[in-house]
Amino acid sequence: MRVTISGGTGFVGRRLLAQLLPSGADIHLLTRQLRPGLPGGVTPHLWDPLREPAPSESFAGSDGVVHLMGEPVAQRWSPEIKRRIRESRVTSTRNLVDAMAGSRSRPQMLICASAVGYYGSRGDEWLDEESAPGEGFLSDVCREWEAEAMRAADFGMRVLRLRFGIVLGAEGGALARMLPVFRLGLGGRLGNGGQWMSWIHAGDLVGMMLFALRYPHIQGVWNAVAPNPVTNAEFTATLARILKRPAIFPVPESALKLLFGEGAQPLLASHRVRPAAAEAAGYRFQYGGLHAALRHLLKS
Ligand SMILES: NC(=O)c1ccc[n+]([C@@H]2O[C@H](COP(=O)([O-])OP(=O)(O)OC[C@H]3O[C@@H](n4cnc5c(N)ncnc54)[C@H](OP(=O)(O)O)[C@@H]3O)[C@@H](O)[C@H]2O)c1
Repeated sequence: MRVTISGGTGFVGRRLLAQLLPSGADIHLLTRQLRPGLPGGVTPHLWDPLREPAPSESFAGSDGVVHLMGEPVAQRWSPEIKRRIRESRVTSTRNLVDAMAGSRSRPQMLICASAVGYYGSRGDEWLDEESAPGEGFLSDVCREWEAEAMRAADFGMRVLRLRFGIVLGAEGGALARMLPVFRLGLGGRLGNGGQWMSWIHAGDLVGMMLFALRYPHIQGVWNAVAPNPVTNAEFTATLARILKRPAIFPVPESALKLLFGEGAQPLLASHRVRPAAAEAAGYRFQYGGLHAALRHLLKS
């Protein structure tokens, strides 16, 4: 299988590479920066995603393109950072899709990352792929990002938009940021802890991508979340229990806003999301419950 990955140097991309390479896959990496030490079987292609179409030799003949790149969202937002968060997703997707539109050997499929931020913050409401988009900066970004990806369907490509929940892996993302604090016994719920967290084990997220590449009927939009979301208070208590540490230091909403400015929004937003489309398509979760998922990640 030949697969092209943008953002393959990141947290999710590295995990996808690690699962594809042992099967002998031919991986083409779209990156802004050539780095030494890439594993065998990976061919890098330099790309400035904001200024030029993606190089056609990176995706010619690929079975699928997985588009993961994007400026990190978990940081203090300034107007400049918000511009980067938006453009690194919307403009890069436009430049990728434009390049594929003009190519004679198009890949068969585009898998484009998106996020449950699409739905905005919705309290206790259950959300599935049919739910309307919400309000706010991240929701607007997700809508524009997905609209650019969908243009590839206009010229016959199979497109799957994956609305990621909080991706759990010990080697990166939210869990890796939380662990040092929780291991010191300094963890606690964020705000009042009532906000729903839709999470997914990184192994299941990659599992969904491989499932979609393998089965030609998969397209449209999937919520990439486990079937059992939890509140932030429950997440905090579960993580603390597994680590055998107390979690008695709640972080007030005001402190989060002081630290991250508007960037506190994703930490306080409530997303109670179902993976309805993935389940209907027959995807079987390896880690459906939080306790088993965290136990597995912390053991490894
Ligand atoms: N991790 C999560 O919990 C989560 C949740 C929801 C959605 N997502 C989305 O899923 C995608 C992958 O997530 P991730 O956690 O793997 O991301 P990540 O590790 O933060 O970054 C992925 C890659 O994006 C590229 N990148 C970074 N800043 C960029 C910029 N300003 N412009 C263009 N490219 C940039 C980098 O690749 P190069 O340096 O090689 O170019 C980086 O390795 C992202 O789009 C993210 O928004 C992730």
